[in-house]
Amino acid sequence: MHSDSGTFTFDTTAGLLVEWGGARRLGVVLAEWFAQRKLLIVTDRFLHQSGLLDPAMASLQSAGFEITVFDDVVADPPEDVMIACARMGRDASVDIVMGFGGGSSMDVAKLAAVMINSDQSLADMYGIGKVTGARVPLVQVPTTAGTGSEVTNITILTTGATTKMGIVARQLYADRVLLDAQLTTALPPLQTAATGIDAMVHAIEAFTGKLRKNPLSDLLAKEALRLMAANLVTACTDGQNRPAREAMLLGATLAGQAFANSPVGAVHALAYPLGGHFHLPHGLTNALMLGPVLRHNMQAAAPLYAELADVVLGASRQSVSAKATSFVTFMDDLMNRSGAPRRLRDCNVPADSLPMLAQDAMLQTRLLMNNPVEVTEADALALYRQAY
Ligand SMILES: NC(=O)c1ccc[n+]([C@@H]2O[C@H](COP(=O)([O-])OP(=O)(O)OC[C@H]3O[C@@H](n4cnc5c(N)ncnc54)[C@H](O)[C@@H]3O)[C@@H](O)[C@H]2O)c1
Ligand SMILES: [Fe+2]
Repeated sequence: MHSDSGTFTFDTTAGLLVEWGGARRLGVVLAEWFAQRKLLIVTDRFLHQSGLLDPAMASLQSAGFEITVFDDVVADPPEDVMIACARMGRDASVDIVMGFGGGSSMDVAKLAAVMINSDQSLADMYGIGKVTGARVPLVQVPTTAGTGSEVTNITILTTGATTKMGIVARQLYADRVLLDAQLTTALPPLQTAATGIDAMVHAIEAFTGKLRKNPLSDLLAKEALRLMAANLVTACTDGQNRPAREAMLLGATLAGQAFANSPVGAVHALAYPLGGHFHLPHGLTNALMLGPVLRHNMQAAAPLYAELADVVLGASRQSVSAKATSFVTFMDDLMNRSGAPRRLRDCNVPADSLPMLAQDAMLQTRLLMNNPVEVTEADALALYRQAY
């Protein structure tokens, strides 16, 4: 599945700081990185009110930052939240934006940094490379080890009532990222499981991507998977465990760097309609669809799954097909141990919604074209039935 010519492109965020407790001295860090001082912080109400943001805010204020907080981000952000955030930033004449939170907050932050500076309509931005304007400086601070949004060039919005659509553009790469795994210790077990599985799916789908898989995305995906396979269950059961939290956050970011360059496939294409219609958390929807899609892709991806088996289980001299099967079994077992729900029927998804979900999944052409095996609408329906 490597491109025969050896030609590939690879882009990523210019700088990362990995520092346990780094958010407590964020003001000093940002003052070194940027000259701008009128800062828009994009977050959600829970993170704002829970106190998780407080040490960072105090540090920023004492370093001379003038702060405006937008805390109306909700999971699977809709377009009106996006527009309100950009308007707040523009009204306050901010000149720098920081996302602080999970993928939802970081996705809104990165597009706000563009929209504050540009009159292009949101409707014209969907798709790949459609964003025309430049953005103000952008820094991202993830509080979940999941989406990798801190290092991706993608914003996912909910358009209309139920459809999730992506905006992919080089402007959406942040200038700088702070990875402070201490922020993730407050994440409850179920959200740790769901977001961690999302990140593992990013690594797997980047590694098996049909179109843009390359030596760097492979390297990142394998290391991401190694770190997260070894630490997911500990992070879920012992949330204060520093090495496990650090490994999960670094792993999620490496997976983000991988799939920003080798995009995800059918697991995400089938997961998005579940998020759009039933507001299930993004990571959970990935966990629900992973097993069926891994089995569907086996016909083409077995040699790659065999390579991943060596990464998560240690090298062995078994046959390719035995290793590939071991990999799928390993992932199934890991998801069982993570405590995440495993069946659509356990997540209030009505049985008669499956044909509609399959129809909706077909709209995710940007993702389906990366999948190693074609997924027709009939296949999608069969996969939802398996997950049910
Ligand atoms: N841009 C990308 O590349 C990309 C990739 C995958 C997913 N996404 C998008 O990201 C979103 C999902 O992001 P997410 O899974 O990180 O969830 P999220 O940002 O929606 O947050 C989920 C919940 O977790 C809470 N939370 C976050 N950090 C916490 C912490 N440290 N302690 C306690 N609670 C905490 C939040 O307040 C929120 O209630 C979806 O909209 C999805 O489409 C984007
Ligand atoms: Fe994802």
